[in-house]
Formats: sequence, structure tokens, C-alpha cells
Amino acid sequence: MMGRGSEIVGILGAGTMGSGIAHVAAAAGHQVLMYDERPEARASARDRVATDLSKLVERGKLTGRDKTEIADRIRPVDGLRALSPAVIVIEAIVEDYVPKQKLFAELGAFLPPESLLATNTSSLSVTALAASSGRPASFVGMHFFNPAPVMELVEVVRALQTSDETAARADDLLRRWKKEPIPVKDSPGFLVNRIARPFYGEALRIVEEHKATPGEVDAAMKQCGRFKMGPFELMDLIGNDVNYAVTENIFRETYFDRRYVPSALQKKYVEAGFLGKKSGRGFYDYARPMPHTEIEPARGSDIFLRVLVMLINEAVEALRAGLASKEDIERAMIKATNYPLGLLHWADEIGLGEVHSRLSALFEAYGDDRYRPSPLLKQMARDGKAFFA
Ligand SMILES: NC(=O)c1ccc[n+]([C@@H]2O[C@H](COP(=O)([O-])OP(=O)(O)OC[C@H]3O[C@@H](n4cnc5c(N)ncnc54)[C@H](O)[C@@H]3O)[C@@H](O)[C@H]2O)c1
Repeated sequence: MMGRGSEIVGILGAGTMGSGIAHVAAAAGHQVLMYDERPEARASARDRVATDLSKLVERGKLTGRDKTEIADRIRPVDGLRALSPAVIVIEAIVEDYVPKQKLFAELGAFLPPESLLATNTSSLSVTALAASSGRPASFVGMHFFNPAPVMELVEVVRALQTSDETAARADDLLRRWKKEPIPVKDSPGFLVNRIARPFYGEALRIVEEHKATPGEVDAAMKQCGRFKMGPFELMDLIGNDVNYAVTENIFRETYFDRRYVPSALQKKYVEAGFLGKKSGRGFYDYARPMPHTEIEPARGSDIFLRVLVMLINEAVEALRAGLASKEDIERAMIKATNYPLGLLHWADEIGLGEVHSRLSALFEAYGDDRYRPSPLLKQMARDGKAFFA
């Protein structure tokens, strides 16, 4: 069985995610071998994890001795071949098909057949990456969220070729790592990133239509929807470049479904270098104190409900497409995005008839396919049903 502490885990890419996953594996007792094409990244991987571990020591969550032991389990290697003893190799290099597929072809040629190959890609086709490895049955997507040591949710993405055994082994390993694996189908944006699109996209539309300012939309979502952060604050935190690229990718991969049309406004922010917190300016200016905005309740409620019904429609469509079970859809969105309530439970609370009629009104007002209500929602609303009785 996998997952015993003595077993070796290989990590490719010593950046943000690779280091985070190395931290998780080493904390679970594994020896971790890390490879990065940049020698300086390889050399600093252990220190990077040690710095993160020091914060846990400061907060009393770990002893200094644990810290040293965990960090010492991480060892840089200077070639791919050194990863051969690993029971699993998890890839977290740059988000691009070409280098990833090249790497998987190389690894597939020498890794023993019983070892697992995993990718942490957030937007590429796991099926296409699996194919490049030449051993696709033992290939799986393991989509960790950032920061990996903190976020419990991991989407276990099954490629078309992934075997049942591989999916079960990935699930088992993640549970030993104290993670919450959610099985999802390989589809654009997987589950969380796809369902979350309207949180950003619809908020951007509202601003593009001059219906509200970013500050007002954020206030509406927080005051009326109990969201911890507003969409514009969150886009600034994620980075407009990253957030825009994810949307654009899902739009392309869904053959230009209008639900995922990227925002021309957000593109301007990217072009201007207003990337968000990391560049000092995004929708907000981080050189100044954050402004406090209030919104009149009736206006706030309209904005919040417009965004919420779009999110609910995405969750219902994910269910209809069999991307995940309804329980997993709820769990995933709460765990990964910190939404105050699961979207399907929220739909039940508001009433499916109300959700459907709000979407239908938007569809009629704009004549845009983006607002088409999910056929499942329509049917359930007509039959007076709820997702959770
Ligand atoms: N950052 C996030 O929030 C996040 C969340 C989930 C998934 N992901 C995914 O994880 C992966 C890594 O993202 P990141 O944010 O850690 O990136 P990053 O830029 O921080 O790190 C990538 C590392 O990979 C190395 N690298 C690039 N090409 C390589 C190659 N051919 N061989 C070996 N090493 C190579 C780079 O030197 C760099 O150190 C991407 O696929 C990304 O989509 C990122």
C-alpha cells in the first residue's frame, strides 16, 4: 500500500505549489525528492518549506524539532532519473502543455509501472497530459489549492484513461495526508474554478454596465450575501492576470460557451499592469487605506442575487453534467472558496422557482445565452422540488 511514511514522493517544480505539496508530503512522513529545471529553485526548495514551517512553530502548532525533521526529509535532485524510487511523482511546473508533456514522456519511459504519475494542473486537460506519459492508466490529476499545506480540498481529476485502481490510490494517499479528496471528471476548470466563474464574471459585467462600482459590488456581496470577500477584492488577491487567464482558458475549452466570456474590462487592468495586490494596484489602490463602501440594501440585494443565481446555475449545470455528486459540489465550494453556504442548499433556501425566474428574467432582458437557465433547474422548479429534501 502507498502512503507509508518511508515511501518516497517525487515532486517536479519547486515553485509555490511544488513547495507546498512537498511540505504536505514531508509532514506526512515521506522522503521527498524535488526536481526543478532552475538550479537555484532546487537549492532553495527545502529552505522555502522551512520558512513556512517556522511560522507554524511561532504559532505553537509544531515544535522546532518537528520542523527540522520535516524539512530534512526534502532533498533536491539534479535529474529526472533520480525520481525512479518514488511511489508517486507529482508535477507542478509551469502551466503549459509543451513542457509538461515533454516531462511526462520522459518520466513515462523509465518510471516503474506501479508508480503513480500526477499533475497539479489547474486548467489543462488531464486526459491529454495522461496520453503523453505513455502509461495513462496510472495517471491522475491532483489539483491542490493554494496554499497547499493549509487548504484541505484536493480535486482528484480522472482522465478518460485513469484506472479505478489509480483513482483509489490517489484518494487513499490524500486521506493519509489529511486532505479531503473530491473525485471530479476531467472537464474545463474541473469543478471549483468552473463553478466560481460567475463570482468574477457577473460582478465585472455589473461594473461594465455602470450599474455599480467595484466597491459597491463588493459591499453588496459582503453585506447581503455574507461573503467574506467581495469579487473585486478577491480578483486583486488572486491577480487579474491569473484570474483572466483561467476564464479565458475555460471559455476556449468549452468551445466559447457565453457563460464564460472573459471580461474586456479585466483585460484592460491586465494590460495596464494593474494586477492587484502583488503589483500594488488593481481594482483598488494598495498604497492607500482600503475605502469603506456602503450600498443601499435594495440595490445591494439585486446585485447579490444576480451574481448568486448565476453561481447556482453553474452548480446545477455541474451536477447535470455529472462532474461531481451534489454533496461533493457543496463540500468543494465551501472548502475551497469559503462561501458561506453550499450553492445547492442556497438554491433550496431561496426556492428553485425564484432562482429560475430571476435567471429567466436576465435571459429575456439581455437575450444572451449566458443567462440560459439550466434545464435541470427549470425542471426541478416546475416540479416544485429541492436538492436536499
Ligand atoms: N499558484 C496557484 O495558486 C496554483 C493553484 C493550483 C494549481 N496550480 C498549478 O500548479 C502548477 C505550478 O504553479 P505554481 O504557481 O507553483 O508555479 P511557479 O511559477 O511558482 O513554479 C513553477 C516551477 O516550475 C519550474 N519549472 C518550469 N518548467 C520546468 C520544467 N520543464 N522542468 C522542471 N521545472 C520546471 C520553475 O522553475 C518554477 O520553479 C501549474 O500547473 C499551476 O497551474 C497553481
